[in-house]
Amino acid sequence: MWAILVVNIILSIIGSLVILNVVPKFKDMFVKAHLSGVDLNKKNKPEIPEATGVISSCIFLIVMFIFIPFPFSKHFFNKEWGFPHQEFVQFIAALLSICCMVLLGFADDVLNLKWRHKLLLPTVASLPLLMVYYTNINSTTIIIPKPLRFLLGNDIDLSALYYVYMGMLAVFCTNAINIYAGVNGLEVGQSVVIAGSLMLFNVIELGGDCWPNHLFSLYFMIPFFFTSLALYQLNKYPARVFVGDTFCYFSGMTVAVVAILGHFSKTALLFFIPQIANFLFSLPQLFHILPCPRHRLPRLNQETGYLDPSVFQFKEKTLNTLGRLVLRIYQLLGLVTVEQAEKDGELSQSTNCTLINLALKLVGPTHEKTLAAGLMVLQVVCSGIAFVIRYPLASLFYDC
Ligand code: UD1
Ligand code: MG
Repeated sequence: MWAILVVNIILSIIGSLVILNVVPKFKDMFVKAHLSGVDLNKKNKPEIPEATGVISSCIFLIVMFIFIPFPFSKHFFNKEWGFPHQEFVQFIAALLSICCMVLLGFADDVLNLKWRHKLLLPTVASLPLLMVYYTNINSTTIIIPKPLRFLLGNDIDLSALYYVYMGMLAVFCTNAINIYAGVNGLEVGQSVVIAGSLMLFNVIELGGDCWPNHLFSLYFMIPFFFTSLALYQLNKYPARVFVGDTFCYFSGMTVAVVAILGHFSKTALLFFIPQIANFLFSLPQLFHILPCPRHRLPRLNQETGYLDPSVFQFKEKTLNTLGRLVLRIYQLLGLVTVEQAEKDGELSQSTNCTLINLALKLVGPTHEKTLAAGLMVLQVVCSGIAFVIRYPLASLFYDC
């Protein structure tokens, strides 16, 4: 097992070095192909190559393809052991789902798809995975937390609903990363922290009964961690490349794949605390209960060079009752600042409902580099909290 992990680590490090070397060389090619975006929070508004996540994800896939024979090598040499076809199919289906997601993510970057497509794409890409789950595992029973057992019993079989849940997990992971973005390095940085936390969790669990699941997860998480870390070097402040929706989809899908096949989706979700908070906070704008501008990333104050929260504008009378209620509650909780947009006019404005804007509202105008570093620290602290919930606190809810 350790020798195979060492091979995986060596291949991953080679992959990350290739990314550091290759991505800068492709920059002009991306710009020429109109795969570029303006770095909105810089004074000179530079044009930066976009969708470079396609390079890192392809190198991740190449690393995985080269690695495929290694976990199965012992079966090649000892024919009498038989070949573990189920494990092999699981491995290939996981790669197929990730591969599909990279393709669909790249299509999104090139074609700028609508939001309904963004919800549909991960569902479609997760189908091969769900099919293999059905044929190989098909465990759809969940353990009920101790405080609810008097009501629901020890466990409950969700049958088809469990598949809906797994499909939704893929949709959530991909989109939650995509909408927690807009500050240099954040899309990849959060993915690196999530991958690192999952790797630590998997290593701890290698000593437990479900070690094969965690070993399987490590085979994917180690290359994902190293290739993303390399991309982070190029995407962190001041960004030399943008990673695009390709990377966000690839990242979310890779986590969803290991969480589903490794049977630890609840723990995986614990490492998404900032993303869950950002998603819940964003819901009224995502569902257009409140107006949602194309970009909700913070805005640059040209004079100070610091970032302020971005805003959306509205006329009080155009909001429906639910919109007014939500905005009032957010305002009372101190989550948004609502003010008059123009003197004596009808137009009002509120800060956009994202965690990044909330952070700026709480700490005041901040430089993008400081904000990006702060959000990384928040992600790490939340992973620490996730480990506390998973280990000492979980025994309050489950027999473990
Ligand atoms: C999501 C967010 C949107 C946010 C955008 C930025 C929702 C519903 N959507 O949209 O509010 O503004 O991501 O990532 O929450 N950019 C920068 N600096 C960065 C990263 C991105 O200026 O560090 C800008 C660039 O112009 C880049 C563009 O954002 O070209 C990428 O946006 P895109 O990924 O297309 O936005 P969405 O994922 O649709
Ligand atoms: Mg995006």
